Amino acid sequence: MLLASTSRLFLLGLVLAAAAADPGPANNTAGYDTSRVGPSNAICVRETYQLDITSNNIQFHDVDSNANQTYLEALFQTFSTLMTNLTLMYEQPYRQPVHNSYNISGTLCVPKDVIENTFDVQLLLHGITWDSSYWDFVPDNSTEQYSYVYAAAEAGYVTFRYDQLGAGLSEHPEDAYNVVQAFTDLAIATKIAQMLRSGDIGGVKFDKVIGVGHSYGSITISEFMKKRLYYTPGPTGRF
Ligand SMILES: *[C@@H]1O[C@H](CO)[C@@H](O)[C@H](O)[C@H]1NC(C)=O
Ligand SMILES: *[C@@H]1O[C@H](CO)[C@@H](O)[C@H](O)[C@H]1NC(C)=O
Ligand SMILES: *[C@@H]1O[C@H](CO)[C@@H](O)[C@H](O)[C@H]1NC(C)=O
Ligand SMILES: *[C@@H]1O[C@H](CO)[C@@H](O)[C@H](O)[C@H]1NC(C)=O
Ligand SMILES: *[C@@H]1O[C@H](CO)[C@@H](O)[C@H](O)[C@H]1NC(C)=O
Repeated sequence: MLLASTSRLFLLGLVLAAAAADPGPANNTAGYDTSRVGPSNAICVRETYQLDITSNNIQFHDVDSNANQTYLEALFQTFSTLMTNLTLMYEQPYRQPVHNSYNISGTLCVPKDVIENTFDVQLLLHGITWDSSYWDFVPDNSTEQYSYVYAAAEAGYVTFRYDQLGAGLSEHPEDAYNVVQAFTDLAIATKIAQMLRSGDIGGVKFDKVIGVGHSYGSITISEFMKKRLYYTPGPTGRF
């Protein structure tokens, strides 16, 4: 699914914020097998990157900062049926700059058999309510045939996947409304893409960053592709 509409991205920010504000377990790494870093055909390194991020975020008003399940469901119903009203009801007409340092956990996987494409990297962005572990999905710790990272490595591609803010092994900020937003996620994705280009991840200056997203991850990728936010001409002038 690829929804590149900016207005939807705005609205998604609110729903994301509310979901992150759900006072469930703060420790949301359930199902994340941290002993697994990558598939057998790649050399993988997982690291936490401290990113300095400034983003122009939405300000919300009249939202319950202690959201319960009933409140979240009502909010989601409004989101799916009356998007415009949701904006009118909860968003201030202006945005505010938010600056923070975030700990983002990411995993770089380089194919063991380097055949080709070595100077391109696939940037894998997961969807809402997930974390980056499903890109290397191995049911029952057995067959690797469902692992995207494995398939990419077989095809000679380097991959970099990371947990979005508030997910998996990355930081889970307490201020879910003002901090965990689509604009923050976009700024993080942009920064990561720049780091891949400049050699700050894995020590390799990748020539081309190929965005691969699922659901919300693909919306984020479409947005920064559209704005060319991370464009810096490489040795070959490609993205
Ligand atoms: C998160 O889970 C880990 C492992 O179970 C535990 O050591 C840690 O204290 C938990 N952190 C929080 C904030 O609950
Ligand atoms: C859920 O929160 C709303 C306010 O947002 C409140 O009116 C309602 O009573 C709460 N429900 C429960 C079951 O706590
Ligand atoms: C949605 O907004 C329109 C226009 O402002 C208004 O007429 C309508 O009553 C609103 N619907 C709800 C459910 O709030
Ligand atoms: C981020 O990582 C640094 C370095 O490991 C650590 O000192 C800091 O406490 C982390 N911050 C959060 C909010 O987890
Ligand atoms: C999966 O397999 C790896 C290596 O074969 C092992 O190190 C790891 O502990 C296993 N994880 C689980 C959850 O069984």
